[in-house]
Amino acid sequence: MAKSYKIAVVVGSLRKESINRKAAEALVRLAPDNLDLEFVEIGALPLYDEDVEAAGAPQSWTRFREQISSADAVLFVTPEYNRSVPGVLKNAIDVGSRPYGQSAWAKKPAAIMTVSPGAIGGFGANHHLRQSLVFLDMPVLQQPEAYIGRGFELFDETGELKSDDTRSFFKSFIDSFAGWIERIA
Ligand code: FNR
Repeated sequence: MAKSYKIAVVVGSLRKESINRKAAEALVRLAPDNLDLEFVEIGALPLYDEDVEAAGAPQSWTRFREQISSADAVLFVTPEYNRSVPGVLKNAIDVGSRPYGQSAWAKKPAAIMTVSPGAIGGFGANHHLRQSLVFLDMPVLQQPEAYIGRGFELFDETGELKSDDTRSFFKSFIDSFAGWIERIA
């Protein structure tokens, strides 16, 4: 039987009707049984400030760091804002990376999906995020790349993927991530 892995799912949008959250939920439904995916919320994390850290980290930072630390791997699903990642996601990355020398992200396998209404599928955000993950020493799934365009056309009113082709791509993406985690582990 395949070994089980706990995956932290981090979504870079706070919007209730977020197409990125819908995509993340679709990936959770399609994931192989040995992946246990849990959403880790980032919307209430105070902005990172080293003075606040020195005075005593807020409980929400500590809790977030514990949630990431206890995961075997991290799945990022994010929109692109101004050709980069949304500030809320960058803040979460910064919070998880400190205190210095105690990064919660280090060495955890990761995968990135970006979803956008536009045709280029958040390519800029996807690669800006990859740049941070290199620095954080996170081995990131290389293939398949997941730049998902036309995001407003993907889901029906219940949040299901409408197209079998898209579903099959999402399945290959999450299955490849499972294989990647297995290889790194
Ligand atoms: C956007 N959007 C956007 N889209 C894109 O493809 N490239 C971009 O650079 C930007 N820039 C951008 C900046 C800001 C501040 C906002 C609010 C939006 C549009 C964005 O992709 C769209 O709002 C998505 O619906 C956001 O994803 P969620 O929230 O639906 O997951």
